[in-house]
Amino acid sequence: MSELDALKVALKTLQDKALDEFSNAESLQALQVLRVSYLGKKGELTSVLKGVGKLPPKERPVIGQFVNASKQTLSESLEKREACLALKEKQVRIEAERIDVTLSGRTSSKGSLHPVQQGLNEMTAIFSQLGFDIAEGPEIEDEFHNFDALNIPQEHPARAMHDTFFFHPDGDEKANLLRTHTSPVQIRTMKACVDAGGEPPLAVVATGRVYRCDYDVTHSPMFHQVEVFKVDKNISLAHLKGVLQHFLSAYFEKDVPIRLRPHYFPFTEPSAEVDIACVFCHQKGCRVCKGSGWIEVLGSGMIHPNVLKSVGIDSTVYSGFAFGLGVERLVMLKYGIPDLRLFFENDVRFLRRMGA
Ligand code: DAH
Repeated sequence: MSELDALKVALKTLQDKALDEFSNAESLQALQVLRVSYLGKKGELTSVLKGVGKLPPKERPVIGQFVNASKQTLSESLEKREACLALKEKQVRIEAERIDVTLSGRTSSKGSLHPVQQGLNEMTAIFSQLGFDIAEGPEIEDEFHNFDALNIPQEHPARAMHDTFFFHPDGDEKANLLRTHTSPVQIRTMKACVDAGGEPPLAVVATGRVYRCDYDVTHSPMFHQVEVFKVDKNISLAHLKGVLQHFLSAYFEKDVPIRLRPHYFPFTEPSAEVDIACVFCHQKGCRVCKGSGWIEVLGSGMIHPNVLKSVGIDSTVYSGFAFGLGVERLVMLKYGIPDLRLFFENDVRFLRRMGA
């Protein structure tokens, strides 16, 4: 066989081998390696070409053409395979990055107000709409505002019922205490009005923390109260009942029958405890209302003349009504919460369920 033919055969074998390997290459990377090994400067095609020098000059162009054609074939084959592999790799990537738009989303949790704060807000909003002003007072009170001015003098048995937390007095100083109810805000707002040269009408709603040394399923040493009062000329028990009826129906978002049951509070005369028709059994009788059909929700009455006197309001000219309620208790009744302590344990499962 002539040198030329031998070279041709070698080139053809090389080309077939390359084409075979190109079509079997499984990745773009592998293909790139093959391109270098066949067509690169130090590639196999180049090394075959080294034999060209041994050919007589007139045969060299022949083999040159042959080599160029072979290069062309290999390049085309490479490009084709490259396009095919690129497409394949793209499909694999798309498949891997596929997004299932039917999957349910991850919910982002949003904070919410504590259920007691929600209750306070709802309750004050109702009185604001009726034109009541919002007031507040200190949690550390003195005996005058918490007791004396509210017609609960020293030695009065009602004091003992308040389970008061006292601060130790320094020497002769009068003892301070954690307020046991929000009623002292009545004294503070009425007195501030009178001291400023003002006079009734006064219509006020006050909310805040109160403290009593008591702890069980329905009692917590700290809880919240809402205090409401109105003082003007000719205020009667009918005004009290009207406001109570409106407030309780608005808060429970339905018409709730109420009744006023005679009671005793030192700071009101007459006094009444207020019951609502049981929101759980609709007066058929259940465990919560102990079969009576009624649930006690708050204390109320006509402000005692002695209380008006203690702040300098003339009780022969003015009269007023007042009532006070436990916020947690009302929230429990509205949402059927069985244990007061849930409000203070801050278990997020409870708080989330109560989230607005
Ligand atoms: N201060 C009373 C308490 O905490 C509740 C109360 C009863 C408030 C009658 C009032 C009222 O304003 O008139 O036990």
